Amino acid sequence: MIKYATIVLSFALVAQLDRVSGYEPEGQRFESSPVRCEASRCDFLRIERHPLFLIECFPSGPLANNTYVLVSAGEAVVIDPGPSCEKEVCSFLSEELLSLKAIWITHSHLDHFAGCKKLVDTFHVPVAISALDAPNLEQPGKDKIDLWIKCEAVTPTFLLRDKDSLSCGESIWTVIHTPGHSPGSCCFYNAEENALFSGDTLFRGTYGRCDFPFSDSHLMAESLHKLSLLPEETVVYPGHGPSTTIGREKSWMIKIQEK
Ligand SMILES: [Fe+2]
Repeated sequence: MIKYATIVLSFALVAQLDRVSGYEPEGQRFESSPVRCEASRCDFLRIERHPLFLIECFPSGPLANNTYVLVSAGEAVVIDPGPSCEKEVCSFLSEELLSLKAIWITHSHLDHFAGCKKLVDTFHVPVAISALDAPNLEQPGKDKIDLWIKCEAVTPTFLLRDKDSLSCGESIWTVIHTPGHSPGSCCFYNAEENALFSGDTLFRGTYGRCDFPFSDSHLMAESLHKLSLLPEETVVYPGHGPSTTIGREKSWMIKIQEK
């Protein structure tokens, strides 16, 4: 019985590792996160179709990381390859006859790149990550966060900076530097379709934790302000949990900036 309770408790702690307590759409604070992995599993998008691209989501690993495959005009990009995502991602690419063009990583926490090395070894594609988060990709554990997931080092090919452009097929994505959760956290924004991959900066009802060794809550507030200025119809695809929109989250994002 004690053993069972310990397992349940540790899962609950791990499940909320990347998020703070949540907010209702009106901006009222929850005491506990409304976006726990257990609850959100049944609420995940799987495929989202935009005119210019489609997005397939593969929740993977103990934190149900959202590994995304972005597809446009026959090209595919994997965003944040989570733990053990390789099998599902490879099957999808093979079934859809897609060529993998690149891997983009929003930030260098282990759960967002634990599946990267196997994909790189299989497809020999370039890897892009912010220059500020690259060191932990090349040397996992350098950010002083425990290596709680088996993870192999990866050498990035492109070092991203704010306002850089990335392409996948016919879609162009702007890099938005959103430090706070980690120094080099980035979001990828497509202005034509108003879509945003937000990593662990913005979730439905909450934002990423800022108590890691290299986190910064003031920078997080500035990053949330930056994102709150995007069009309200922008669809947000976060690193964990269900998708949302800027309009749905805007009220609490503004309150955080005012603190
Ligand atoms: Fe994270």
